[in-house]
Amino acid sequence: MYMVTQERGRVVSDEAEPVHKRIAELVADTLRGRALDLGCGRGPTLMALSRGVPRSVLVGVDRAADVLRDLPKTLAGHRGPVLGVEADLRADLPFADGTMDVVVSYNTLECVPDPARLLGEVHRVLRPGGRAVIAHVDFDSMVLAGAHRSLDRRACHGFADYEQGWMDHADGRMGRAIAGLVAMSPLRLVAVEPLLVWSPRLVGHAAQRIEDMRKALLSAWRHGKSDLTPAEVDTWFESLCVADDSGAFFFSELAFLVVAEREVVVTGGGLPVSGVVDGARQPGALAA
Ligand SMILES: C[S@@+](CC[C@H](N)C(=O)[O-])C[C@H]1O[C@@H](n2cnc3c(N)ncnc32)[C@H](O)[C@@H]1O
Repeated sequence: MYMVTQERGRVVSDEAEPVHKRIAELVADTLRGRALDLGCGRGPTLMALSRGVPRSVLVGVDRAADVLRDLPKTLAGHRGPVLGVEADLRADLPFADGTMDVVVSYNTLECVPDPARLLGEVHRVLRPGGRAVIAHVDFDSMVLAGAHRSLDRRACHGFADYEQGWMDHADGRMGRAIAGLVAMSPLRLVAVEPLLVWSPRLVGHAAQRIEDMRKALLSAWRHGKSDLTPAEVDTWFESLCVADDSGAFFFSELAFLVVAEREVVVTGGGLPVSGVVDGARQPGALAA
């Protein structure tokens, strides 16, 4: 369980979301050479992987070219190759079978209309014995203690259900769905780890999430996808500030980190069948 950084009861700041660090810890034993982040965004999870294995090959996939352009700067301290690949996760991944030691993904699966297909692709690109950590906040179960109970509920569910402009699909319950999706996929489900982030103050990550929610709810109203009017969104936001001033504010979100593996197939003679494709040392050689 994590809380925003506190010193003697006073919130001073919050670290980058602790989930990235935890994802990196969960794959540290498996990452020998090559890691793939699906929906890498500006690369916070790749950064965490880099701290643990600074010479690994880090591959980030995203279809947003602008975020990929930031990767070399974000990962300037990384001592191995860094590759940003512009690709659509709804299609086959542009990598050969068994080329990755590790596949990670955070807060992306809900945007993909057919997550089962993507998990099949994760299985295909992992080497036998390779590990995946697919992690997601369960946005439908966020906890807010503002000064207006019904607006807290409506804002939380309105945000969880809204398919924002950059998404092809939205499933605010993806956090709780991943374990089942993995269990039904060719991957082996290894573990499910809950990670709770909470804050008793409207600062840092909590403030950022609330601001994301406020913008999304206003956009949802403009597109006729929400019954929460702009005036109600304003009232809701003010009620959070009132609660923060009085000390009654509370925020938490729960992420589920689902650990899975591609099993090593053992032959009749007891010899493991190696599926590792090891000819591609250069990142450019990874494409199928
Ligand atoms: C909520 S962001 C998470 C980014 C990053 N994992 C992080 O933790 O900051 C989701 C990312 O998935 C990407 N994405 C969504 N749908 C995609 C798709 N169909 N193909 C490729 N990338 C996609 C978005 O561009 C965005 O960068």
